Amino acid sequence: MVRVSIIGATGYTGVELVRLLTRHPQVEVAALTSQSYAGRRLGEVYPHLAAALGETVLTDDVEAAVAGAGYVFLAMPHGQAAEPAALALAAGKRVIDLSADFRLPGETYAAWYAQAAPAPALLDQAVYGLAELYGPEVAGARLVANPGCYPTSALLALAPAVRASLVDIGSIIIDAKSGVSGSGRQPALGSLFCEADEGLHPYGVATHRHTPEIEAQLSRLAGTPVVVSFTPHLVPMTRGILSTIYAGLRGGVGEEEVSRVYMEFYQDKPFVRVLPPGTWPHTKWVYGSNYCLLGLTVDRRTNRLVLAAAIDNLVKGASGQAVQNFNLMAGFPEAAGLEGLGIFP
Ligand SMILES: NC(=O)c1ccc[n+]([C@@H]2O[C@H](COP(=O)([O-])OP(=O)(O)OC[C@H]3O[C@@H](n4cnc5c(N)ncnc54)[C@H](OP(=O)(O)O)[C@@H]3O)[C@@H](O)[C@H]2O)c1
Repeated sequence: MVRVSIIGATGYTGVELVRLLTRHPQVEVAALTSQSYAGRRLGEVYPHLAAALGETVLTDDVEAAVAGAGYVFLAMPHGQAAEPAALALAAGKRVIDLSADFRLPGETYAAWYAQAAPAPALLDQAVYGLAELYGPEVAGARLVANPGCYPTSALLALAPAVRASLVDIGSIIIDAKSGVSGSGRQPALGSLFCEADEGLHPYGVATHRHTPEIEAQLSRLAGTPVVVSFTPHLVPMTRGILSTIYAGLRGGVGEEEVSRVYMEFYQDKPFVRVLPPGTWPHTKWVYGSNYCLLGLTVDRRTNRLVLAAAIDNLVKGASGQAVQNFNLMAGFPEAAGLEGLGIFP
């Protein structure tokens, strides 16, 4: 058994990590930390987890939580994760950070997050944890920067096309929709029922912090700088992201080549399913699961590739992907603890 601790265990991604890890056959939870609920039993704070780890007492002793585990998950706001990450790495532990603190070069982080990168000295060690692209690097990493939720959906949709130079990289438009859990459990005006229910609106237009993360990874795949238009929207649902993406096809690229590239790219990837032509993903099909469902077509009229990717933002977009990365790091089967199918309807 491998001992793991979760720092920030009572937020939405933290509690989802707990749920997934209780199903993992080779994991023992060492400690769960919380500042707000320290001293209370997990089953009291979250009754849906009472049957598994209900008697576990939440602690605010991060140092002890780190010391008691071989692997540490950080499920905290950006800016806060760097300190426990440094502590854990110095103690020889391996770290999976769900925040943005290790996803970007220092100067890019500073430009988009309006604060200096919190631990620039650790950035060199960080591996971007999109397992479908960087599995071997993740396996050897001591520090994994778990991708953001929107970037996960956008990159899984675009990676095959960009890597195989199927599309004009200056033409990419990502129109993405997320459920309200994407902004976490902290109270916020826009997350109130009366504000979010029965409506739909864009936000962070041309300024959202996931833009540089998407661009950095696409640039890496293309081998040249890529700039995208990315517009997120808030949708009145609890979980789920749907990213619909448009990109101009390069001359001579047709449906057959696109289809072959995508099928080959994802043939041995357990969590990405390329849907048959004419089938388009639904967020309800991935609710609670670690799958990414991908639909695609070539629009001959406009000569554009149209892609749609659905994920559960809390699973493949955060905690499930973190467990997938942990599995690679620990040498477990990639899908251990993640076999659950989506809950439908
Ligand atoms: N929600 C998503 O869909 C999603 C997807 C991908 C990535 N992420 C990223 O994952 C991280 C967590 O997101 P979330 O949605 O779970 O947020 P959340 O629901 O707001 O939870 C944040 C957690 O961090 C704890 N915390 C706050 N400050 C802390 C500190 N200084 N030290 C230790 N713990 C602290 C909070 O609990 P206490 O106050 O009890 O300590 C809480 O448990 C964020 O960086 C977020 O950007 C979120």
